[in-house]
Amino acid sequence: MIEFEGKKILVVGASSGIGAEVSSKLAGQGAEVILVARREELLSQICSSIGGSACYYTADVSEYKDIELLIERIVSEHGKLDGMVYSAGIVEDLPLRFLDHDKLLRTFEINYFSFVEFIRQITKKKNYNSGMRIVAISSVSSLIGEKAHTSYCASKAAMDATVRCLAKELWDKGIALNSVQPGMIRTRLYDEFVERMGDYGSANEALKKNQYAGIGETEDVANAVAFLLSGEARYITGTGLLMDGGTFTASSS
Ligand SMILES: NC(=O)c1ccc[n+]([C@@H]2O[C@H](COP(=O)([O-])OP(=O)(O)OC[C@H]3O[C@@H](n4cnc5c(N)ncnc54)[C@H](OP(=O)(O)O)[C@@H]3O)[C@@H](O)[C@H]2O)c1
Repeated sequence: MIEFEGKKILVVGASSGIGAEVSSKLAGQGAEVILVARREELLSQICSSIGGSACYYTADVSEYKDIELLIERIVSEHGKLDGMVYSAGIVEDLPLRFLDHDKLLRTFEINYFSFVEFIRQITKKKNYNSGMRIVAISSVSSLIGEKAHTSYCASKAAMDATVRCLAKELWDKGIALNSVQPGMIRTRLYDEFVERMGDYGSANEALKKNQYAGIGETEDVANAVAFLLSGEARYITGTGLLMDGGTFTASSS
């Protein structure tokens, strides 16, 4: 597969889980991947295992004001971008009594505000090539309610609303924008869930009540992202691709 030969694709939140898998997948299809996250050791390991032209920049995306400089640096060192995947995200268990302004703000800073800021800085000075495609890693949580996850669900709903709005606004500039909305995927978020449930058996039982297709793998998400970034998805913009192992239909039927 050489779908992305010569394409420069920025992956934000690339040091582990879905972002790391997406980076490897795209590089395997010829992309020059540019990884961003905070944990330098992991970024460096991933780049070494990918090989080729993969490179990384360390950044804390909650430092909102630094994003302009980061994009300027990336574009001056690598050229204009052809794609971006925004996978940076945090989940915190926050029942209402702990849901104060600062906690809400923290989730939104990482999961949402910086997502918008990356797009703003990429488009402001035309730091992209025509045909640019953006994929946001949202969640089925943007569509369903979950106890103690108000901040997370709201941040993903904001992300999906933004995808719909900016897709309209940016289409004439040659930019397409979509999200994927995974259910539970086997990453450290799943490990935290297992820890809360006590063991793998109880966790899988609890999971299967709603997500009847079972736990998803990072590769499942990477495949969907690669499709949405590819020419085969030319006519798809402003939408969310639900890939939740049945969760949404199970909870709404
Ligand atoms: N796993 C699931 O079940 C699932 C389901 C639906 C949606 N999602 C979404 O998928 C995305 C990736 O999650 P994951 O499951 O792959 O978990 P993960 O392994 O914890 O990945 C999260 C990524 O976000 C980065 N990140 C977090 N805070 C950051 C910050 N302040 N600055 C820069 N980077 C930051 C992390 O890098 P550093 O820590 O190195 O900075 C890491 O690369 C998230 O947006 C999550 O909401 C996950």
